[in-house]
Amino acid sequence: MDQKIDWSELAFKITLENINRSHSPYSNFQVGSYLLTEEGPGFFGCNIENASYGATMCAERVAIYKAVSEGFINFKGILVMADTQKPTPPCALCLQVMAEFCPPDFPIILANLESILCEHRFKELLTHPFGPAYLLEDKTKK
Ligand code: THU
Repeated sequence: MDQKIDWSELAFKITLENINRSHSPYSNFQVGSYLLTEEGPGFFGCNIENASYGATMCAERVAIYKAVSEGFINFKGILVMADTQKPTPPCALCLQVMAEFCPPDFPIILANLESILCEHRFKELLTHPFGPAYLLEDKTKK
């Protein structure tokens, strides 16, 4: 990491304090996430499962959607926490949502209940993101 992540300990603490808000009666897999905005406010998210299964929402997207709906779209980084030995990465759907808002160097910090385990850049986890540029391609130039 070329840029010091000075907010990671705060993100870890807040996520650990709140991960029990996870509504995960079907998987019993609690996930917590903390998204820090460039402007300052941070948003906690947890996974919210649903009896339909399909309506389940991941912790990362809850945090991102909370921020966007409050008017914050510039993100400094995100922490993802799960009660696992190995780090739990964001799923592909969450990475696609991050692709909408986050630059290639966006920091993604993975933690368990004990400590921070590793740090990634967004571009390492999603190498070829689909983005708005594909929608704007000029079809007349084929
Ligand atoms: N889950 C997350 O919240 N984030 C991830 O990065 C991986 C998976 C949730 C979704 C579901 O509630 C449970 O974990 C099991 O997949």
